[in-house]
Amino acid sequence: NLPDKIYLKDVGPRDGLQNEETWIETEDKVTMIDKLAQSGLKEIEISSFVHPKWIPALSDAREVARQIQRYPDVNYSALVPNQKGLEHALEADLDGISVFMSASETHNQKNINKTIDETYPVLRDVIEVAKQENKVVTGYVSTVFDCPFEGRTKPEQVIPVCEQLLESGADYLSLGDTIGSAVPSQVEALLDELLKRYPEEKLIMHFHDTRGMAMANLLTSLNYGITHFDSSVGGLGGCPYAPGAAGNVATEDVLYLFHGLGIETGISMDHLLDTAEFIQSKLGKRLPSKSLTHQLSR
Ligand code: HMG
Ligand code: MG
Repeated sequence: NLPDKIYLKDVGPRDGLQNEETWIETEDKVTMIDKLAQSGLKEIEISSFVHPKWIPALSDAREVARQIQRYPDVNYSALVPNQKGLEHALEADLDGISVFMSASETHNQKNINKTIDETYPVLRDVIEVAKQENKVVTGYVSTVFDCPFEGRTKPEQVIPVCEQLLESGADYLSLGDTIGSAVPSQVEALLDELLKRYPEEKLIMHFHDTRGMAMANLLTSLNYGITHFDSSVGGLGGCPYAPGAAGNVATEDVLYLFHGLGIETGISMDHLLDTAEFIQSKLGKRLPSKSLTHQLSR
C-alpha cells in the first residue's frame, strides 16, 4: 500500500551549499535553482537568512531571491532563525519560511547560540508573523535520532520540541537526521511515538546520508505512510555545526526509487541529472549522488 503521490523538497541550494568552502557565484546559484524548478520540483529551499558570519556561503540570500525566476506552481522557501531573518525573508517575498532548532541542547546552542528554552519564544514570534503574512511554515527539528555532541536522542526529547513548534503555528515538522547516523529501527521508534500524536501529512523526513542509511530510512518512513521528504540534488550538503555530517540523500537517487516503485513524481530525472552535473562542475569535485556517478560512467 504505497502512496499515490509524494512531495519532495530540494534543499540543495540551502543545506547543500551552506557547507561548501568553494564560493558559488550568485548567478550560478540562481541557475541551479531555476534548473531545479524546470525539472518539475514543486518545493525548493533557496537559501538562509542567517548571520553571514555563521554561514558565509549563503551571504547572498537576498540577491538570490531577487534574481531567481518565480514559477507560479513552485514553493520557494528559506531558513530563518529569528526576527531579523524573517524581515529579510518577507522582503524577499518567498512562499515559505523554515524555522529550525534541535532536540538536543548542545547542538541547539552550537548552531543558533541559544538554549532550547530560549529558542521557543523567538521561534513562536517568527511563526506568528509568518502566518499573518500567509507563509507556509516548516519547523525543522535537528538531531532527532543522534546528536554529534550528546549521542543518542530519545523520542521524549523530540516530542516537546515538535509540540512547541506545532502549537506556535508551524504547518509542518521536518525531522532531521542531522549527522546521518540513524538506522531504520530508530526511525520506527520515533515515528511510533509521533504518529500517535500527529497525522502523517504533518511530518517531513530529512535524511543525511553519512553512513549510506538514508534510503533504508526513507523506505521505512514511506512504509509508515510518510509522503514528504527533503533531499538535495547531487547529494550535496551537511551542517557546519554538526561535525562529520555528510550531504542529504540525493534527489536523483530518491527519484530513482520512487519511479521504480511506480510512484509518480512529475519530476524529470534527466533535468535533475543535468542540474547535478552543473553544480558539480561549479564546485569542481565529485558529488556523492549514485545516479549522477552512474550517468557519468556510461
Ligand atoms: P547571535 O550572535 O546569537 O545573534 O547569533 P544575536 O541575536 O546576538 O545578534 C548578533 C548580531 O547578529 C547582531 O548584529 C544582529 O543584528 C545580527 P550587530 O548588532 O552585532 O551588528 N543578526 C543577524 N544578521 C543577519 N541575519 C540574521 C541575524 N540575526 C542576528 N538572521 C544566530 C544567532 C541564530 C543569528 C546565529 O547563530 C546564526 O545565524 N546561526 C545559523 C546557523 C545555521 O545556519 N546553521 C545551519 C542550518 S541548520 C541545519 O543545517 C540543520 C537542518 O538542515 C536540519 C538537519 O539536517 O538536522 C535544517
Ligand atoms: Mg540538514
